Amino acid sequence: MCPHHPPSHRDVPHRPAPRCARGAEPAARRGTHRSLRPVPPPPPRRQRPTGAAAGARLAERPRDPATGRAGPAAMAAAAGRDAASASSAGAWELRHLHLSLRVAFAAAGAGRLRGTARLELRCARAGAGPLLLDAHPSLAVHRAALLPPPGTPPGSPPGEPLPVESRPFASYGSALHVALPRPLSAGQLLTLEIDYEAGEGPGVCWLAPEQTAGKQKPYMYTQGQAVLNRSFFPGFDTPSVKCTYSATVQVPEGFTAVMSATSWEKQDNNTFVFKMSQPIPSYLIALAVGDIVSAEVGPRSRVWAEPCLIEAAKKEYDGVIEEFLAVGEKLFGPYVWGRYDILFMPPSFPFGGMENPCLTFVTPCLLAGDRSLVDVIIHEISHSWFGNLVTNATWGEFWLNEGFTMYAQRRISTEVYGSAYTCLEAATGRALLRQHMDNTGEDHPLNKLRVIIEPGVNPDDTYNETPYEKGYCFVSYLAHLVGDQSKFDAFLQAYVNRFKFQSITADDALGFFLEYFPELKEKGVDSIPGFEFDRWLNTPGWPPFLPDLSPGEQLMKPADELAELWAADSLNMEAIEAMDITVWRTYQLVYFLDQVLQKSPLPEGNVERLSKMYPKISKAQNAELRLRWCQIVLKNNLEAEYSKVKDFLHSQGKQKYTLPLYRAMWAGSESARALAMETFSATAPQLHVNVQNYVKKILGLEVVED
Ligand code: BES
Ligand code: ZN
Repeated sequence: MCPHHPPSHRDVPHRPAPRCARGAEPAARRGTHRSLRPVPPPPPRRQRPTGAAAGARLAERPRDPATGRAGPAAMAAAAGRDAASASSAGAWELRHLHLSLRVAFAAAGAGRLRGTARLELRCARAGAGPLLLDAHPSLAVHRAALLPPPGTPPGSPPGEPLPVESRPFASYGSALHVALPRPLSAGQLLTLEIDYEAGEGPGVCWLAPEQTAGKQKPYMYTQGQAVLNRSFFPGFDTPSVKCTYSATVQVPEGFTAVMSATSWEKQDNNTFVFKMSQPIPSYLIALAVGDIVSAEVGPRSRVWAEPCLIEAAKKEYDGVIEEFLAVGEKLFGPYVWGRYDILFMPPSFPFGGMENPCLTFVTPCLLAGDRSLVDVIIHEISHSWFGNLVTNATWGEFWLNEGFTMYAQRRISTEVYGSAYTCLEAATGRALLRQHMDNTGEDHPLNKLRVIIEPGVNPDDTYNETPYEKGYCFVSYLAHLVGDQSKFDAFLQAYVNRFKFQSITADDALGFFLEYFPELKEKGVDSIPGFEFDRWLNTPGWPPFLPDLSPGEQLMKPADELAELWAADSLNMEAIEAMDITVWRTYQLVYFLDQVLQKSPLPEGNVERLSKMYPKISKAQNAELRLRWCQIVLKNNLEAEYSKVKDFLHSQGKQKYTLPLYRAMWAGSESARALAMETFSATAPQLHVNVQNYVKKILGLEVVED
């Protein structure tokens, strides 16, 4: 994982940005109402810290010593409210959501979703006032109506139309006010139907045929996390609310629809029917439509991909998924989701993986041919317990999803691949946390586990390595306090069982930990000076405890030594040639390259020699190796290999690959900056809109209204 330097919401245009996918026309020349104008480049400097501006809004406030919470957003969280949701979720119980959609592709990577969202609600608080839903300016609501109560005789008049109004909420969404005809009493049931259209928003991505692997047919997909699904359907777009859902999706002839659902069924008339029978938060509802086919890779798993990729997809994961699921079940309890399938996305998909339940979405970069990037799959599988079953109640508690998942991923990896390999992989994670904290300064407010997200701040702009790797350290610290792996594994299983299908805060998780281990509670392990739970959660900085990664030393040591040799002023070729890297695994090479990067720029001429000596690295097709090699090329200003940076950025749009490379180009020479501008203007239309906006920030570009 690479650190992110996303801007705050204040720096991102407060209007719908260009769709994540358009035709091949460069963004700079596209559109009549908007143009991309360069603002004068800032003087060369280190890149702005991750989420620095967002961080500035995350001001320190006096805290309640008992809870560590502070300020109005914290109070909202304490009251179970999510500052990033405009909805009145607290006053309602959402019993079920049904989407009935038609998908229409338009020319040049655009399209529309038309249909109905039906919300089955129960009033939880009498006199709840208007019903507020999360929505987005890009959602066109045509009609809202109450359906007649169940049991109404056939032939009765259709549902009662309701006044509905969209009001501004934040840069990333709006509030849909639905006026109810009369005050409701607690417990009353209500079925609300909203006819709407969606398409232009950041959560719904439309790709032109040339942006797919097969280049024949268009493609569409949704990406909900964190707050994007409000541009897909109106609802309670907060992780604190879970509901079951169902959907019917009609697609054009020759297309297939898939969703994050328990069941999938094709009916006549190009209509696909889905049912998710477990309650999930809104951000996990996901849809993809394209020319996709599937192949079985295990008793409860298949891979989905475009026809031209399906063989490679099957080969990559045939027969391996079941073992990860089985180990996960042994460690954390039953896998409740039925199927575990994988959808290989088009190259512009902005994440390595997205844990949509029953159907993980992954970047096609995982098709390395040698299963070397399977840690991403293990990570997404781990979310089946941590994140999808036990969910963070607000995005300020995101470490509960990702920190526990990193821990679970490495537990599964240890069982399957052993501790040497797993510790090596964890060391590359720790290196990324180190880079992130070096870039931002350790005491940046985003470098604590519990982030106070003030109203107006887009949770996606707070994304960085801390919840992942500092979260991993904290969970490892809890395991260290327990002192016995099998007891801690049993705790994790009990934790999942206690909170399954719920959304929780750190206080819930840690309260349960102390309850589960009363002897630790008695010892006061939550307040050991320097390691206080409160400090872990609320104080930015380097983790006070680091798990022991020494079992990985046998793999790291040769890589450390080789990096040392390459950093020398005069190269000891004899010693270098004595080390045979052809037998090294991908993560050993990744670790080596991270060390080389850290020592870069290397003395004159060394990188050229390294490049010639190791074509396995400098000509690698593996995305993790390509990323590191491109970073080394830029840090050493190796102009002869700039084309590799360009090719890599043209070939995929993953955020964690794209942003570090633009940052490195922008921090480099004039020619590196020119490369950045040229590459961005050619590839911007293919990038997810969020990634586009983050790159624009790095390059000092802004969207300007004409
Ligand atoms: N849930 C995340 C991806 C995400 C996070 C999407 C925040 C939107 C907002 C996913 O599980 C993840 O962490 N993916 C990583 C995998 C890695 C840690 C192995 C990725 O995409 O790199
Ligand atoms: Zn994750």
